[in-house]
Formats: sequence, structure tokens, C-alpha cells
Amino acid sequence: MASSPLLPLLLPILLLLSGPAPSTASSSHQYPYNEKLTHLHFFFHEIYGGPNATTITVVNPPNSSYTALGSIGVGDNYLREGAEPGSKLLGRAHELAVAASLGTPTAYLSMFNFIFTAGEYNGSSISIFGRAVLTEVMDRAIIGGSGKFRMARGYTISKLVNRKVEGDVIYLVVEYDAYIYHMDD
Ligand SMILES: *[C@@H]1O[C@H](CO)[C@@H](O)[C@H](O)[C@H]1NC(C)=O
Ligand SMILES: *[C@@H]1O[C@H](CO)[C@@H](O)[C@H](O)[C@H]1NC(C)=O
Ligand SMILES: *[C@@H]1O[C@H](CO)[C@@H](O)[C@H](O)[C@H]1NC(C)=O
Repeated sequence: MASSPLLPLLLPILLLLSGPAPSTASSSHQYPYNEKLTHLHFFFHEIYGGPNATTITVVNPPNSSYTALGSIGVGDNYLREGAEPGSKLLGRAHELAVAASLGTPTAYLSMFNFIFTAGEYNGSSISIFGRAVLTEVMDRAIIGGSGKFRMARGYTISKLVNRKVEGDVIYLVVEYDAYIYHMDD
């Protein structure tokens, strides 16, 4: 078997590449890493208006007589175990939502960071991005995560399960199923 004349030249380079990477990061994870699938079920609680609002409109539509396009909302909502307002707090949902559809004025381009603060996932987060129409079943992408959810990808299926209006205040509850592929450590 003829050995490649290039091999002696390549060998030191190959060894260099396959050796342990200089470790500046705190994690020792190497690629390929093991993945696992986690399914989470929880409820998202949002309040518009009143002293306890969790979501506010920060930009009104520039031409509201024509379309909602350009309206922007920011939120710091609750993630809870159940649909009741007093149900156990699991985390917070930091939100940015932009009315970005000419065709469907109620369609939002939404992005969230779900930051868990209870139990096994305390301190971990997932980042979600996608189209939101509150009157429909919403299917959005999980595009990343942190802590236990490093390297996350997946999707969430969610739907509005309660809408209550009291004076100027609107209470919304959205049921979530999150299917998360992430690093198994
Ligand atoms: C706002 O939250 C506080 C503290 O939880 C509560 O006492 C108060 O009744 C709430 N106000 C309204 C209008 O919901
Ligand atoms: C808003 O849009 C409508 C419909 O295109 C238009 O007739 C109106 O002049 C616009 N108003 C402003 C303030 O731009
Ligand atoms: C979540 O983690 C923080 C920081 O480590 C800690 O202070 C807090 O008590 C934890 N919360 C729960 C519910 O375990």
C-alpha cells in the first residue's frame, strides 16, 4: 500500500486539529454531542392595561385607519403550571411582537425568551420566533436556548384558552406545548 507523500506533512496538522481545543469556555462539551428531546407543557399569562400590565404597546400603528402594520408590543409575561392566575410560577416570558402583516392585521411577528425559574430548568431558557395570530393554533420555531437547553431547536404549539375583559384590562391565557431537542449533559 503506497502511503501518500503528503501524509508526513499533514500529520502534525491533523494531530493539531484533533487535539483538545484550547479551553477558554466553561463547558467541556464536544461535537458531536448527545441530544435529547424534552416536552414541556405550561401556560402563558398576559395582562394588557391596568396597573399590573405585563405587555404594553410601545409603538402605535403609524396609520391605524389603514392597518395595524408597524405596531410594536413589549412584554414580561408569566409562565405558569396551570391556566389559573394563582397557579405555580414556572418562569417569565420576555416578548417582542411586531404587527408585520398587511394581509392579516392581527398577525404578529413574535419573539420570546422563556426564562424558567423553577424546578429542574431553573436558570435555563428557550428562544422562540414566529408568526402569532391569537385566534389560531400557533406553530413557532424554537431557535436556541441556554443552560440545560443549550443548542436547542424545536417548536411550540400554542393556543388561546382564556380571554377575559374587566374594564380596560384584558387577561389572556395561552396553553403551550414545547418540543425541544437540546444538548444532553
Ligand atoms: C395588581 O397586583 C396587586 C399585587 O398582586 C394586587 O393586589 C392588585 O389587586 C392588582 N390590581 C389589579 C387591578 O388587578
Ligand atoms: C392612512 O391610510 C389611508 C388608506 O391608505 C389614507 O387614505 C390616509 O390618507 C392615511 N392617513 C395618513 C395620516 O397617512
Ligand atoms: C432558582 O435559582 C436561583 C439561582 O440559583 C435561586 O436563587 C432560586 O432560589 C432558585 N429557585 C427555585 C424555585 O429553585
